[in-house]
Amino acid sequence: TTVEWEAASYDMGGHDTYMHKEIHEQADAVDRVLRGRIDDRFSTVHLGGLNLDAREARQIRRVKILGCGTSYHAGMIGAQMIEELARIPADAEPASEFRYRNAVVDPDTLYIAVSQSGETYDVLAAVQELKRKGARVLGVVNVVGSAIAREADGGVYVHAGPEVCVVSTKCFTNTTVAFALLALHLGRTRDLSVRDGKRIIEGLRKLPEQINEILKQEEEIKELAEAYAEARSMLFIGRVRGYPVAREASLKLKEVSYIHAEAYPASELKHGPLALIEPALPTVAIVPDDDLLEKNRAALEEIKARSGKILAVAHQHQEKADQTVIVPKNEDELDPILMGIPLQLLAYHTAKALGRDIDKPRNLAKSVTVE
Ligand code: AGP
Repeated sequence: TTVEWEAASYDMGGHDTYMHKEIHEQADAVDRVLRGRIDDRFSTVHLGGLNLDAREARQIRRVKILGCGTSYHAGMIGAQMIEELARIPADAEPASEFRYRNAVVDPDTLYIAVSQSGETYDVLAAVQELKRKGARVLGVVNVVGSAIAREADGGVYVHAGPEVCVVSTKCFTNTTVAFALLALHLGRTRDLSVRDGKRIIEGLRKLPEQINEILKQEEEIKELAEAYAEARSMLFIGRVRGYPVAREASLKLKEVSYIHAEAYPASELKHGPLALIEPALPTVAIVPDDDLLEKNRAALEEIKARSGKILAVAHQHQEKADQTVIVPKNEDELDPILMGIPLQLLAYHTAKALGRDIDKPRNLAKSVTVE
């Protein structure tokens, strides 16, 4: 029943903070967002609440994803997945900006509002403005029956379970998985082959076990965090699939540790931020084993040549990095789901080393329901 569910989820279960507990719940949470949705017969997924039939799905010409903070970052990953798997042009924008810029609302665009709480005012206001202009809006929301879920024409529940820590972790991961499901569904109503559909489904099924493999490295990540806690500022870089991961990891670090952190596309390094590189500014680099591996390695070399310290999150050991945290490889399109997880632990242990109020960082609220 709901009562049992709630009682169990608010119990700390031996963890010192909700953040720690929620990081460790991610394998179960991902299991939940997948449960009952995979259709092996047609190598696709069923999303019951979508309210979008195949004919309508095929008429979508663009996808625009709106959210704030962590949900916006999950939306950036979602946009890439939709472009890659469904070949529909897609992008994400902060809902807080979108609502103020009198955007052109296009009837052939599918709008997707992303929110953990389902109550964030900037997202809700964007949804209401879109509806007023006749747009079709879906929600990718965690809290069932929340304002945004009610206002949307349909959507995908994220099923992360209650998230108590102000800083979002398990909901971010589950939202990226929900987007993978949506991208697969849209892809299979269009030109994604059965073979690729199967490949993605197999990848999705591997996620819970791979998450647990990452979490087993907590002790090593804790040691790294204790060393990096002395930094006054950190740079996070990633290219294409790695960039939203870098954005989210940098937000996590600043929210809980109050260390200044900045995320940049790795490809933009030479256009400015290289000037900052020196031993006192460590870089965290997202280095997946995909077709951009060599390009990312070249960026590490550029940083090393300027005596910058590097922590790589990668699928294999990176020679140019001072340390590498190894993440298990999944399908290229799904890699971003996993690559940020070690960096949630890095943010947590850095904040802990600095004695921060981890579940309730200063100046922040769990859901921002005001203008
Ligand atoms: C997450 O760590 C943040 N506290 C914050 O950026 C949050 O993601 C944002 O305010 C949006 O909240 P929502 O997902 O509930 O809409």
